Amino acid sequence: MNKSTSQERPMAVDRHTYRITGGVPLRGAVDASGAKNAVTKQLVATLLTDEPCVLHGVPRILEVDIVLGMLAELGTEVTWLGEHSVRVHTPKVTNTALSSMYSGVNRIPILMMGPLLHRSGETVVPLPGGCTIGKRPIDFHLAGLAQMGADIVDNPGSVKVSTTRLSGAHVTLPFPSVGATENLLLAAVRARGTTVISNAAVEPEIVDLILMLQKMGALITIDIDRTLIVTGVAELDGVEHHTVADRIEIASFAAAAVATDGRIEVRGARQDHLITFLNALRHIGGGFKETEHGLEFFRARPLSATDIETGVHPGFMTDWQQPMTVLLTQAAGTSVVHETIYEDRFGYAQQLSQSMGATIELTTQCLGATACRWHRRDFLHTAKITGVTPLKAADLVIPDLRAGFGYVLAALVAEGTSTISGTRYLERGYEQPVAKLAAVGAQIITEPV
Ligand code: EPU
Repeated sequence: MNKSTSQERPMAVDRHTYRITGGVPLRGAVDASGAKNAVTKQLVATLLTDEPCVLHGVPRILEVDIVLGMLAELGTEVTWLGEHSVRVHTPKVTNTALSSMYSGVNRIPILMMGPLLHRSGETVVPLPGGCTIGKRPIDFHLAGLAQMGADIVDNPGSVKVSTTRLSGAHVTLPFPSVGATENLLLAAVRARGTTVISNAAVEPEIVDLILMLQKMGALITIDIDRTLIVTGVAELDGVEHHTVADRIEIASFAAAAVATDGRIEVRGARQDHLITFLNALRHIGGGFKETEHGLEFFRARPLSATDIETGVHPGFMTDWQQPMTVLLTQAAGTSVVHETIYEDRFGYAQQLSQSMGATIELTTQCLGATACRWHRRDFLHTAKITGVTPLKAADLVIPDLRAGFGYVLAALVAEGTSTISGTRYLERGYEQPVAKLAAVGAQIITEPV
């Protein structure tokens, strides 16, 4: 089964466009939000217990609302306890089939398969969407669950799974997929026996999910060489957990500080989750300093070119690639960014070149240290970026979430006033981006659409 699931249905319309006047160094402090890619999975994990769970540090973003809507459909009671704290309780799963309204919306429904199998023995989930960045199949997810004893019926637009009981298995992932690792973890924690996941992803957001599951009573070992060993338990308890800070948002603000030659403190930023990013930042002339509450980012010297290759953790995140690419337009010389996670994650670069005057050349060649999975496969997955280029203001349309911050950053650097639409994509994953940017001095206003 190799379903392609690349197109995202936005589930929302733009609430406003942004008007950004660039050329202003950004200075001040912002709070890091909780990580979208941790909290959405943690909300799914609450389905593994019939006891109440409380999550803190929950970002108020569209993606969280969407996942809470999904949970409510399944019988979850949702109560906000404060701005960033939510209580979710599923005493009984009242509905095992998530409605087709959620088809193509995001990657979350497929992660519900394991928990729903444990609670109800069967479920129907709509096929996921995602950003327009590559095919994003779910073959690893389905093959792993099948190995654990799930019966899978592949229908158009949805997957039906059932089981008498999931059992432990040794699953070797063909690639350390974040989602497939999470899916198998969520299935394994209450399966009969021991599950070994080899070649697993071990991103900080996955470790944060493991920490939450461990508090719930799960038995999980993170072994050497990306191996996860899970000993299934019959039941899990309720939990109170604080979600890890969003290292994508933190890197985005770091890039904004360095690109605009300003100075931004991100409160809640953790150095240990940013090691690879900080190395790259330092290579090009950016700096950071630890503060009482987080990390402060600034330009340490005139920026110069570098070579970057995205990769699985602890490599350079594919979601850092877009702000970094924009930042590299401001670095002297020719930089290379080799994208090895997704085959089609440079689509956004065209508007930067054509409308804003950036010098970005895309190539199908692997120009990194190694040939990647997209080698000789005709995908424009490497960018050569030449700077320093003064960017021109432009009207831009955001194509996906992470490209969205790239465009905002480009507008913050550009002389003149840019207009950005497609802001619903950005606001799916960034909490209060306009307020946070304004707080550090960005000239950004919203206009109704
Ligand atoms: N892959 C397969 N088959 C599978 C699963 C993955 O071929 O069954 C491939 C993908 O096509 C891709 C690679 O494996 O080429 C990695 O995909 P992965 O499964 O790791 O990604 P994901 O779980 O779908 C999450 C984040 C992404 C982030 C990636 C990589 C969420 C909801 N999404 O996606 O975040 O880029 O991991 O770190 O956690 C975003 O937040 O904007 C975003 C796209």
